[in-house]
Amino acid sequence: MHLSNEFLLQCAKRYGTPIYVYNGDLILQRYRELFEFIPWPKLRVLYAMKANYNPAILTLLGEQGAGIDAVSPAEIVLALKCGYQENQILFTANNLTAREMHVAHALGVLFNIDTLSTIDRFGRIFPGSDLCLRFNPNVVAGDNAKVQTAGEASKFGILLSELSTVKNLVKTHDLRIVGLHIHTGSGIKNPRKSLKAMQNLLEIATPENFPDLQFIDFGGGLAVPYHPEEERIDYASFGKNIAALFGTFCENYGRELGLYLEPGKYIVAESGYLLMEVTSLKNNQERRFANTDSGFPHLIRPVLYDAYHHIVNLSNPHGSLRTYDICGNICESGDCFASGRSMPKIREEDILAVQNAGAYCYSMGGLYNLRAMPAEILTLNGKERMVRRSSSEEELVESILAECL
Ligand code: LLP
Repeated sequence: MHLSNEFLLQCAKRYGTPIYVYNGDLILQRYRELFEFIPWPKLRVLYAMKANYNPAILTLLGEQGAGIDAVSPAEIVLALKCGYQENQILFTANNLTAREMHVAHALGVLFNIDTLSTIDRFGRIFPGSDLCLRFNPNVVAGDNAKVQTAGEASKFGILLSELSTVKNLVKTHDLRIVGLHIHTGSGIKNPRKSLKAMQNLLEIATPENFPDLQFIDFGGGLAVPYHPEEERIDYASFGKNIAALFGTFCENYGRELGLYLEPGKYIVAESGYLLMEVTSLKNNQERRFANTDSGFPHLIRPVLYDAYHHIVNLSNPHGSLRTYDICGNICESGDCFASGRSMPKIREEDILAVQNAGAYCYSMGGLYNLRAMPAEILTLNGKERMVRRSSSEEELVESILAECL
């Protein structure tokens, strides 16, 4: 299911570098297999579009029946333009302004609110509305501290211990709580922690506390291997455990509810490659630098999280191994995709592929040093097409000047 070196080299040649290439067939496989893993008739997958908001990917998943986890009014607008209906979008608001609240409400989506004062404000502006509530499940999990979104140190979610205040607010503003939500963290490698978080939420999801529930949303966080030697998590058995837990819960609740998940990384991470050309080699005594035509504004995860991304030398995959720092073209010493990485010998003009670049790579990108974001290519059924172009230097500067007063 991975794109071949030859094909990626062809893309680099045909479209130039740096460039993102996404494997649409793998995106579809990852989306569909969730339904095989989790045997629950009312399972819904809301794709966390923050992971990769390319409209072609949104459309591809929309055609499969996916819903959307949106976190800003612009994400809602883009999802609607890509063909999603209002009732397929859950708006998980964090630190909303009153203006954003009005914008999102006018777009007709269900809000998922995670702060007591925001419930109060929402209730005052829109009394009698349907609402979903995000709780903090009090479990710390996720790939690194920056992507853990629950537990005491997290700004997200309502504490489970604040339940009685929540109920008072709901009553005061005549709100109808139709969904409960958690999102514990990203890249959770221990599925037992996810199950524990689910159990913690389900404990308060009683008909006495919340009589109008239609769904429970367990958020995202499903992990994929980033290192070639990392094992895949057995999501087939995890899925059975979730379905069993949820089945017992629904029996006690008295109704079969919807079970929602909001994966981003799981669906798109492995589909993506950032291709870049080696522009120069430099030896500083023992240290070898392979410098490329991309940089951290195109893919920030190694710099921001010390994240490991596997890098392949497409032009010389079987060369003898050497150790390199693989760096970018940005004026910062920290601009490296990998340090001390053992790689097949790298030559100038070789093409390198950064793997697992489908999630939180393009979408976290920026224009630092005024280099345009790369174009994006999507492959599907053996055919590829450019789904977003890059900008020329002229266009980039024009767009800046157009915004400046
Ligand atoms: N739902 C909510 C409310 C979220 O905040 C997130 C991610 C997701 C779902 C999807 O999580 P996923 O399945 O993708 O793990 N930039 C970081 C990840 C931050 C995730 C933020 N929220 C990274 O590159 O690892």
